[in-house]
Amino acid sequence: MYHRSFVSIPVVLLAASLAWACSGDGTGPGGGSGNNPPPDTASTTPPVTLRSRAEAHDLYVGSAAATGLNRGDAAYADTLAAEFDMVTPENAMKFDATHPQPGLYTFAAGDTIVAFAEKNGMKVRGHTLVWQNQLPDWVRNGTWTKQSLSDTLKAHIQNVVGHYKGKIHAWDVVNEPFNGDGTLQSNIFLQTIGPDYIELAFRWAHEADPDAKLYLNEYGAEDMGTKSDSLYALVSRLKADGVPIDGVGMQMHLATQYGAPSTTDLAANMKRLGDLGLKVEITEMDVRTAVPTTADGVAKQVQMYRDVVGACRAASNCDAIVFWGFTDKYSWVPSTFTGQGAALLYDASYHRKETFAAVLDALQ
Ligand code: G3I
Repeated sequence: MYHRSFVSIPVVLLAASLAWACSGDGTGPGGGSGNNPPPDTASTTPPVTLRSRAEAHDLYVGSAAATGLNRGDAAYADTLAAEFDMVTPENAMKFDATHPQPGLYTFAAGDTIVAFAEKNGMKVRGHTLVWQNQLPDWVRNGTWTKQSLSDTLKAHIQNVVGHYKGKIHAWDVVNEPFNGDGTLQSNIFLQTIGPDYIELAFRWAHEADPDAKLYLNEYGAEDMGTKSDSLYALVSRLKADGVPIDGVGMQMHLATQYGAPSTTDLAANMKRLGDLGLKVEITEMDVRTAVPTTADGVAKQVQMYRDVVGACRAASNCDAIVFWGFTDKYSWVPSTFTGQGAALLYDASYHRKETFAAVLDALQ
């Protein structure tokens, strides 16, 4: 395992232990009905948390975090710090957030999350430097030559990575470069710079922070198939050419209607990347299901969370599992998939769900 340090458990764990006690045994949605016994304040047993379980196995367990952590309820930040030892800014480090106008860089929102992580002994995954979404208009619709867009992208990457130098565990350097059929997304960078934009982005990021681990992050390339084969071919070439890439992020946005990638596929895909000398991190996991939930839907979610956590634990090159948020109160899913939701580990009232218990158990 690279770059791994054991972090001290923060004071907020006290709050977490109370939350745990208040939420029942954590094995049912909405477990905290208010009928639970009062917390056992005399107990000296440390609370069992995701991060304590993960740290015992040399794994990181993380969550995406809202811009500025400004959810307006203390339970949000307290739970985040108590349960997770890694955090990914959900939107705060994207191109539109950090570089909204030519030459103007805005880091306040990302800085807040980095400071929070430092205070609570958490690693930060930087997300993301090059992506066709959340790209400001001045870039997306600008008039570019190959040279001018290269210069602009290099300046963007090096200013952002440079600003956070020494504070980021891993950067998602390039996000979602592939179409479903394994061809490259025809974004402004591919159109103007050509396919080399990917290699260049990694080299520029490495120059700016040689110690940050650099990842290519993708969705739908978790199982063995056309998209993951293309990704594998690309990262094989990058490695052969000496491009500073350290790993592949498997986003893992799953849905009960489609099921999880098979554990056999996950193992094979992680292994072939490992054979290239690459790490794997699960970077954005959630499992959406039809809402209101049914017993069948929840049972599927539980199994899917178990399978993915188990696959990461079983792969020697998988060292982190990051969820795309932790409470159903805040998730990108309901606004994107009508009738779907309940994708995370906590319900909207911060009670641990069966999915939480499944992850905790799979981390044991
Ligand atoms: O910040 C503006 C706000 O000023 C405005 O009032 C509001 C009105 O709609 O929009 C706000 O921006 C939204 C932004 O999230 C911040 O909340 C955007 O509309 C919305 O599109 C954006 O959605 C994000 C999405 O990426 C954009 O592609 C989600 O929060 C975020 O969870 C999602 O994350 C992506 C990963 O980065 C990459 N992988 C897939 C994943 C899920 O789509």
